[in-house]
Amino acid sequence: MQDICIRPVRNEDHSQVEKLIVAHWGSARMVVHGEVFFPAELPGFLALRDAEICGLVTYCIRENACEVMSLDAFQPGLGIGSLLIEAVKEEARAKGCARLHLVTTNDNLNALAFYQKRGFRLAALRPGALELSRKIKPEIPLVGENGIPIRDEIELEIDL
Ligand SMILES: CC(C)(COP(=O)(O)OP(=O)(O)OC[C@H]1O[C@@H](n2cnc3c(N)ncnc32)[C@H](O)[C@@H]1OP(=O)(O)O)[C@@H](O)C(=O)NCCC(=O)NCCS
Repeated sequence: MQDICIRPVRNEDHSQVEKLIVAHWGSARMVVHGEVFFPAELPGFLALRDAEICGLVTYCIRENACEVMSLDAFQPGLGIGSLLIEAVKEEARAKGCARLHLVTTNDNLNALAFYQKRGFRLAALRPGALELSRKIKPEIPLVGENGIPIRDEIELEIDL
């Protein structure tokens, strides 16, 4: 973890961040709880290793809650995801947020393990939510991680 540095996303990172979002999420837009977001337009943090981007998190602050919109560790299992989540937590606290939350999908068992091991609790289940998401973003695949059909949204949260 010592050689990984975390810094806020800057304006000049925009095109690179957008490319990373498209490469890893299939499109520049993301549909979550029926709303459309463009993560590259949001604030975020980059993880850098030997001057190369190895991770990206984007988030959105509304009222007194912060929502993680995307989290990617391009080299898994090195602590990059944990460092990025810590950076968002600190920023959200500094901005007066009481809660950090995010949505993942039912297929993403890795993410469910990752967040729960870091103190997040299950906060909501939206069965069948992906049907609405696909009306807005038809490119969302039908089958996801581990061959599991992608159907439902699961919300996780942690108090700050
Ligand atoms: C989930 C994710 C961000 C975790 O980042 P990471 O840098 O691998 O996480 P860390 O190294 O800090 O921690 C590893 C932990 O994550 C979990 N994990 C998730 N995916 C893993 C993977 N492919 N390899 C190893 N560990 C993984 C393990 O439970 C592990 O837990 P432990 O350290 O408590 O035993 C990363 O796997 C990822 O980018 N996944 C694809 C995108 C995604 O699903 N994002 C989250 C949805 S919003």
